Amino acid sequence: MDIHIAVVPVAGLGTRLLPATKSQPKEMLPIGRKPVVQYVVEELAQAGLQRILFITGPGKASIENHFDLNAELIQVLRENGKEDLLAELDFERAPLQYFYTRQRRQLGLGHAVSCAEPFVGRQPFAVALGDSIIGLKGASDVLSRMKSCFFEKKADAVIAFMEVPLDRVSAYGVAKPAGDGDIFRLADVVEKPDRDKSPSNLVIAARYIFDPGIFDALKQIQPGSGGEYQLTDAIRRIIRGGGKVFGVRLTETERRYDVGNFKSYYKAFVDFALSDEQHGPELREYLALKLRGEKMK
Ligand code: UTP
Repeated sequence: MDIHIAVVPVAGLGTRLLPATKSQPKEMLPIGRKPVVQYVVEELAQAGLQRILFITGPGKASIENHFDLNAELIQVLRENGKEDLLAELDFERAPLQYFYTRQRRQLGLGHAVSCAEPFVGRQPFAVALGDSIIGLKGASDVLSRMKSCFFEKKADAVIAFMEVPLDRVSAYGVAKPAGDGDIFRLADVVEKPDRDKSPSNLVIAARYIFDPGIFDALKQIQPGSGGEYQLTDAIRRIIRGGGKVFGVRLTETERRYDVGNFKSYYKAFVDFALSDEQHGPELREYLALKLRGEKMK
């Protein structure tokens, strides 16, 4: 048995990135050479997920266009002998199938995931947030590790976690682990706890694998602040009902690049630009001079 479907929620309004996101999705903002969501899809493909269901919303059509085959552009590049640029469009030909459904009201991540139910049916599936890259240039096999954990432990859900300083836990869903190690069972999960009441400093890191039971749990939760349905509340319900939910830790090299706000967007862009094979070395030199207050020749 394997997992074939990945659900990628991209319907959020991205208000923390206004005005950049007024008429373009935050998931299409470039980080280095590629838009955020391309790294996400490449990571999914690497983990063997072949059917990608985007949960979209208003103003997100450019995501559909990005993953479509642009025959006209290919022809122009071919006629002009731009083989190097043609190679940049190779991702269009990846053996993936793309599907789209609309979240008609932005009622939170839990609601966005529930929109996938008619497509997914009763099989396990992955969820990858469209605004978060795992690892520099998306180089991470965390989803493969999560898949192995899901089948080996016969889990109801597997969630990726990363460590953050305690003063940042109040922005995330936080684990109460029932054990140690890189893979651990969850005793509970708490949405945005106060630092003093936080059960740990392990926070949810944008990747999930679910048994279809999550859809039943999502139907039973109540909306929280702002009328949003929290995915964390549904996971908590599964745990409290005796379900087996496991956490998989990101490794040290698997930093989560969340581009939901300008601070993390800028940091992600700098890291990816510095790692650019062609321009990274010169940019590094430029930044070093700039930080020392000197001018580049
Ligand atoms: P965020 O929690 O960052 O919310 O979404 P947001 O609405 O996009 O951003 P702000 O708070 O207004 O700045 C995390 C991921 O979940 C998706 C987003 O598109 C993003 O990829 N999402 C969020 C949905 O698909 N639907 C929602 O109702 C909320």
